[in-house]
Order: sequence, then C-alpha cells, then structure tokens
Amino acid sequence: MKTKILDNHQLQEARFILLQGGLVVFPTETVYGLGANGLDEQAVAKIFSAKGRPSDNPLILHIHDKRQLDDIVLSVPEGADELMAAFWPGPLTLVFEKQPHIPLNVTAGLSTVAVRMPRHEIALALLQSVNVPLAAPSANQSGRPSATTLEHVYHDLDGKVDAIIEGGSSVIGIESTVLDLTTTPPTLLRPGYITKNEIEAVLGKPIQSSTHSDAPKSPGMKYQHYQPRVPVYWRTGNRERIHDELAQMTGVVSIIESPTEQNFYALLRAHDKPDVTAIVVITPPADSLSEGLRDRLDKASSKK
Ligand code: TXA
Ligand code: MG
Repeated sequence: MKTKILDNHQLQEARFILLQGGLVVFPTETVYGLGANGLDEQAVAKIFSAKGRPSDNPLILHIHDKRQLDDIVLSVPEGADELMAAFWPGPLTLVFEKQPHIPLNVTAGLSTVAVRMPRHEIALALLQSVNVPLAAPSANQSGRPSATTLEHVYHDLDGKVDAIIEGGSSVIGIESTVLDLTTTPPTLLRPGYITKNEIEAVLGKPIQSSTHSDAPKSPGMKYQHYQPRVPVYWRTGNRERIHDELAQMTGVVSIIESPTEQNFYALLRAHDKPDVTAIVVITPPADSLSEGLRDRLDKASSKK
C-alpha cells in the first residue's frame, strides 16, 4: 500500500479513509497514534497486523467529547468526573467497564475499556470530524520505541498504513498515564506525565500501583517494550565508575547522557545505528527522575 503524508488542511481525506475502515496515523501530545475506527472490528484488526502487535494487548479508544463516554462505558465510577475535569483533554487514560457492543479486539476480550481524550489540536480536530472513537496504539512497530516525529512513524510504518498526518514533534514524548478505575482503590497501570501524586490530590485518597504479579490486569505490560535493536544498559551514580566500566566494554558503545521524557525515544532511535553494539544510558540517581521516564528506562533496558 502507498502511504500518503497529509497535513492539517487535509483532515477530510483522513476522515474519509477512517470511515472506509482504513488506517491513519495522527499526532498527539504524548506520541503519534496509529488510528482506526474503534467501532469497526475489521478496521481495528488492521492495526494489529500493521504493528505486529500481539492480539491479547488491548487498545485505547480516543474521544473528543465526554458525552461519547455514554456509548462506550457502562458506568462512570466515583472520582472519574473529577479526574476528567482536571486532566482531559490530556495525557491520562482511564479504564472503565465497557459497553457490550465495543469490538472484542479493541479490549482483547477484557470486560474493561481504556479511554483517553488527547490534547493535540490536530488529534482533536480529527476526532471531531470522524465523530467515532478512534482506537489507537502508539504508532511504532510492536516492541520498539514509540514514535514522536513523522520520521519515526514513516520509518516503522511506511507501506503499512493508508496515511500519516504530519504534526511536528510530540511535546510530552512518552505515552499517557493509564489508571484503572474498575478497582478499589484505582490502580496505576502505566506511569506517565500525570503523576500518582497529582491523581491522588484530585481524588483526595491514595491509589495503588500495579505490580508485576498482577500483570494480566494490564496485558501490555508483560511484553518487551520500547527497545531499540541493540541492547540498552542503564547506569546511574558515580560517573567515574561508569566511565571505568565503559572502558572495559568491547564493541561500539553509544552513550546517551541525561535523557528527558521529551527526547528519550528520539535518542534511542538516533543511537540505534547498524554499527553500534550497545547503548548505555547514563542518568542522575533514579529517584531524581520522573516516574514516567524511570519506567520507560527500566523497560527499554536489558537486565544486566
Ligand atoms: O499516550 C498514549 O496513550 C498513546 C497515544 C497514541 O494515545 N497510546 C498508547 O497506546 O500508548 P498503546 O496501545 O501503545 O498502550 C496502551 C496501554 C497498553 O499497555 C495496554 O495494555 C493498556 O494501555 N490497556 C489498554 N486497554 C486496557 C484495559 N482495558 N485494561 C488494562 N490495560 C489496558
Ligand atoms: Mg505502545
């Protein structure tokens, strides 16, 4: 398939493709999303094949208006209204009990559905014009770092999607925080730009963090994630000791120093060159980093 590059003046064309059951990549404030009509099971199936995504990993439905929730979720639990008022549109995904008509492949057979209202102008304009929820995972090959620029998307998905809407670099740079509202207390399934503290401040009570032992609750968390082709090693602490260790390593080691949430995926991709044999990421102590960056560093790294 020939992949078209569209700009924000060509959203009618993107709308047409989506309503015909095609795939359109669109920019969001977190990372680019690989979108399809979230109520069309066959269109959603194309997302899984384009990305090479395991079918047991559910997708997020993207909306532009809170009223769309009525058609997607069974109930809006306590605290949800406050969270939506505080953080939507924005990088917070909420998990609810789903309506029965949501296609099975969107939720990977779960009884729950994840919903998010992105803050990016182009994403909101597109969602408004199609006026159906768009299922959209990050627009990368499964397992690889998420795409935060048009070039990243093109590299991973050229020939596999109908169109890509150009929208500059993602301002946040890592995926949304995912919070499950179907548990008591709510469970943080994926750390992100919106922190646990910020959520607790709005709810006025503590939430829990998911641990690896309840992995099936968040199916996506069990897979390899955000990894470039070459192994990544994350080091913190004494710079002299790290540089001594680096001097011992054989092969071509590429070093990333002090990445931020905004540039982390772009740096991983830039350093993932054919002649490189390892990437070493050096950061200040882990507890001085944001929880989102810490989580992505941990998942991108080989455990050694
Ligand atoms: O920022 C983002 O969230 C981006 C942009 C495009 O919106 N999207 C994104 O989607 O990161 P994806 O598919 O790469 O990650 C979705 C995460 C996965 O970890 C998945 O397992 C989890 O959300 N998820 C989706 N539905 C779920 C559900 N019903 N219950 C628990 N976890 C769910
Ligand atoms: Mg992803």
